[in-house]
Amino acid sequence: MSVRRLAEDTVQPASFAFSKENAAWAEATINKYPKGREQSAIIPLLMRAQEQDGWVTRAAIESIADMLGMAYIRALEVATFYTQFQLKPVGSRAHVQVCGTTPCMLRGAEDLIKVCKKKIAAEPFTLNASGTLSWEEVECQGACVNAPMVMIFKDAYEDLTAERLEEIIDGFDAGKGAEIEPGPQIDRIYSAPEGGLTTLQLVEAPQKTKAPVRASKAKAEQAVSVPPSNAAKPETAADVTNPALKTPATAKKAAAKNAKAEGETVDKSKPAKKPR
Ligand code: FES
Repeated sequence: MSVRRLAEDTVQPASFAFSKENAAWAEATINKYPKGREQSAIIPLLMRAQEQDGWVTRAAIESIADMLGMAYIRALEVATFYTQFQLKPVGSRAHVQVCGTTPCMLRGAEDLIKVCKKKIAAEPFTLNASGTLSWEEVECQGACVNAPMVMIFKDAYEDLTAERLEEIIDGFDAGKGAEIEPGPQIDRIYSAPEGGLTTLQLVEAPQKTKAPVRASKAKAEQAVSVPPSNAAKPETAADVTNPALKTPATAKKAAAKNAKAEGETVDKSKPAKKPR
């Protein structure tokens, strides 16, 4: 668990304001919540501020707290709790989040971290010399089946090797990040096997033949003549499985019918037993 503090005052901007478009979006987002519950919009608003400025500044936290009528400490609690919020400036062209959880670690995440240390900075959350790149180690990003992987902003780059990550970082640093296809970096679609499917391959569909009407009618008649099967029916004389008995036999008439089905004689002078 890392200690999450706001960035030094020296890098904090004096003020924050949403752009015109983001301000309209923020207002619409706040209006989605019931009256008196507007503070629930804190997470989407902080995330929008991060997308706008690259990181969450103190001014942004306080400005959003004002918009939502919250005490600054409440907004600070949210911003410092969730690791998705970057509390320090990150690379302007790429912030590389390397997954270091077990599946990725077993598949080479440590080599990816070495690449970040070599190409970006020796320590995480540190900008490279030109301020374009930064990196950090994160927990599982939910793409374990394509491990190892990194996230850069909202995209995942999977099935990585150290060499491929170097190429990706160089691409982003050159301002060509949009040209790099996210997802698996090997020959496979999503998490399908490399080189194509090995199971559930398309088989030749059975040919539909139109049978003559007479033949199909004869077939239907034949099907009707098949006697009902007794398969799985228990062979027992117990009342519960005797199809001739109707249950519950509470009425006189039904009791007599049951007795008849079982071959008993009914003493009509006695009343039928009442059900319990
Ligand atoms: S362990 Fe890396 S994505 Fe899940």
